[in-house]
Amino acid sequence: MDLRLLPLLLFLLVSSASAADLEDPLIQQVVPGVGEDLLNAEAHFSSFIQRFGKSYADEKEHAHRFSVFKANLRRARRHQRLDPTAVHGVTQFSDLTPSEFRRQYLGLRRPSLSSSHEAPILPTGDLPPDFDWRDHGAVTGVKNQGSCGSCWSFSAAAALEGANFLATGNLESLSEQQLVDCDHECDLEDPDSCDSGCNGGLMTTAFQYLLKAGGLEREADYPYTGADRGGCKFDKSKIAASVLNFSVVSIDEDQIAANLVKHGPLAVGINAIFMQTYVGGVSCPYICGRHLDHGVLLVGYGAAGYSPIRFKEKPYWIIKNSWGESWGENGYYKICRGRNVCGVDSMVSSVSAVHTTHT
Ligand SMILES: *[C@@H]1O[C@H](CO)[C@@H](O)[C@H](O)[C@H]1NC(C)=O
Repeated sequence: MDLRLLPLLLFLLVSSASAADLEDPLIQQVVPGVGEDLLNAEAHFSSFIQRFGKSYADEKEHAHRFSVFKANLRRARRHQRLDPTAVHGVTQFSDLTPSEFRRQYLGLRRPSLSSSHEAPILPTGDLPPDFDWRDHGAVTGVKNQGSCGSCWSFSAAAALEGANFLATGNLESLSEQQLVDCDHECDLEDPDSCDSGCNGGLMTTAFQYLLKAGGLEREADYPYTGADRGGCKFDKSKIAASVLNFSVVSIDEDQIAANLVKHGPLAVGINAIFMQTYVGGVSCPYICGRHLDHGVLLVGYGAAGYSPIRFKEKPYWIIKNSWGESWGENGYYKICRGRNVCGVDSMVSSVSAVHTTHT
């Protein structure tokens, strides 16, 4: 070999490896190590099956899921190009079509336009540059809604957990199942649009229900089943937290931050399309729909800085999700602040809990 070519060869090797790392975190994540066949979708699929303990009924189902998986690999790559400050790749949802994912793991129903319960405008002059309710003990561990469109109940219960902590000093894990089974509250303007268990609901109507019912039981007293066929087993004598009042926060990001700091974690709606492939980082897609389909909990915000994962981080919101700890960043999502990305600023509500002295 001509030794004069050696530096050139080395340069090509090194630059192609780092370019692949940067462009394809998906491959990075699934197949660590350089030199793997990038098109080996079959190997990715087997490691996905192992990692998430998947099993399929028969060969036909296996083949179908494999084709959905391949389509999701392509989608993750598209998401990566549209959202370069986050990492997109294989998740526990990689064998689901977008519509299966929406039906089984989201569950925010379409809200009617209601102007009642508007939050008063708060001063925003001395907000801290970053803030996280997890550092102040107001947030329970990440939960898992399972294959049930009950996100709204997790968002509402978690907001009340935070509000109850602020009012009483106790962090109690509260029951989503009570909301799933017992809350059939409807919109004032649209009596056909009601909270309906695994088929979706809204956080504000859940708060409305809680005002009428008296409050929520503890998680331990009314545990989550992930199904909505059990009927309501609410026992008023076991109420652990009660809603004093709630309000809808304006779309203004400073008002959202001020309400967060003052009242505790906020119930928010979001468009979850990028969340199916999200692995980590700050999600800041160039284009994202603002149609809201998922209810989550806003627990804090961060300022710009450097991410250990990639590039420079933008200011972001910290979102607690309800898909277990193995999803995203230990169950959490970061989405950039500043321009209502994925509609995250457009359905925000704040709840206050009744201060109780009994335990
Ligand atoms: C609930 O009412 C109290 C007292 O009127 C008020 O200070 C608080 O801001 C209200 N909370 C919410 C979330 O609207």
